[in-house]
Amino acid sequence: MSATNIRLQPTEMNLDHCARLLQAGELVAVPTETVYGLAGNALNERAVQKIFQVKGRPLIDPLICHFNSIESASAHVRTNEASQLLASQHWPGALTIVLEKQPSIPDLVTAGLTSAAIRVPAHPVLRDLLSRLDFPLAAPSANPFGYVSPTLAEHVETTLGTRILAILDAGMCSFGVESTIIDLRRPEHPQLLRHGPIAIEQLSNTLGTEVTDATCAGNDSSSQTAPGLLTQHYSPSAKVVLYEHAHCTQEATSSEAVVLNRKPSESTPEDSHTFWLSENGENSMIAHNLFDLLQKLDQRGYLTIHVELSNGKGIGKAINDRLSRAAAK
Ligand code: TXA
Ligand code: MG
Repeated sequence: MSATNIRLQPTEMNLDHCARLLQAGELVAVPTETVYGLAGNALNERAVQKIFQVKGRPLIDPLICHFNSIESASAHVRTNEASQLLASQHWPGALTIVLEKQPSIPDLVTAGLTSAAIRVPAHPVLRDLLSRLDFPLAAPSANPFGYVSPTLAEHVETTLGTRILAILDAGMCSFGVESTIIDLRRPEHPQLLRHGPIAIEQLSNTLGTEVTDATCAGNDSSSQTAPGLLTQHYSPSAKVVLYEHAHCTQEATSSEAVVLNRKPSESTPEDSHTFWLSENGENSMIAHNLFDLLQKLDQRGYLTIHVELSNGKGIGKAINDRLSRAAAK
């Protein structure tokens, strides 16, 4: 048994303990409905500094601030009609909105940008924790910079466990991919900065304006708006090779390579090097399991992971986006 268990169940006592750590400027890994986050007091520069240090994240990559209500989030940014509409529809939830920031958010959080990324999360444990605090939580995904995001407390413990004091363990995150990010600084020209659980079509429908997909703009042209959205990201140590549905040519018989299909198939011979992302091929299940399977197979020491792309519908866009970044070496 380890000397101190840093994985804490979200009991009243543990939530109080975590709130006290955060008030003292320490970091706590927290569950959200998307992925686990590495949280610190967004208004305390020393806490924010620690987030960058623990993750090994460059200071040019801004953080998302998490609030417990639309009202508290609105106090720190310049809102507009479009942002109010999306907030009323999707918060609490897996949507992050970029708006001009107020001076109350430290420049360190936003990497010196005049904008801030804000979100009111839906996870009941995180909402409970936020309700005990009188400050927002800056929280990137709780993984070492560039590695696969964590969807289980064990993922955080394996990669960052020696560098943090507590992980609130609420089991597996439901969505399994990070929030959708939309830039609404120019509400007449809304721009999608990251695909996520809330699909671009849904946002366009709610706004009554077409949301431009700015996620494919490439690193150079997008570096001003989304500095952290690097092409290579979410990468396991193993090489990731992608294939379209039913086109995998890999013979999954070697102990060095493994195949990860969308769902079990009768035509695929049963062997110990073939796995599947879902029982039924549904994108929501694939997203839910994706990062966990990538990490588990990586830790088993496979050198190559062949992964089947999703059909790209709904959250499938986010799945394919994360997979292509994981494959970009
Ligand atoms: O689901 C999520 O969003 C998770 C959970 C923990 O909330 N968080 C998350 O944070 O994915 P992170 O730091 O791994 O990704 C945040 C992304 C980064 O790519 C960053 O560049 C972008 O948001 N971002 C943050 N502030 C921004 C801003 N002001 N303008 C444009 N992009 C911004
Ligand atoms: Mg991240």
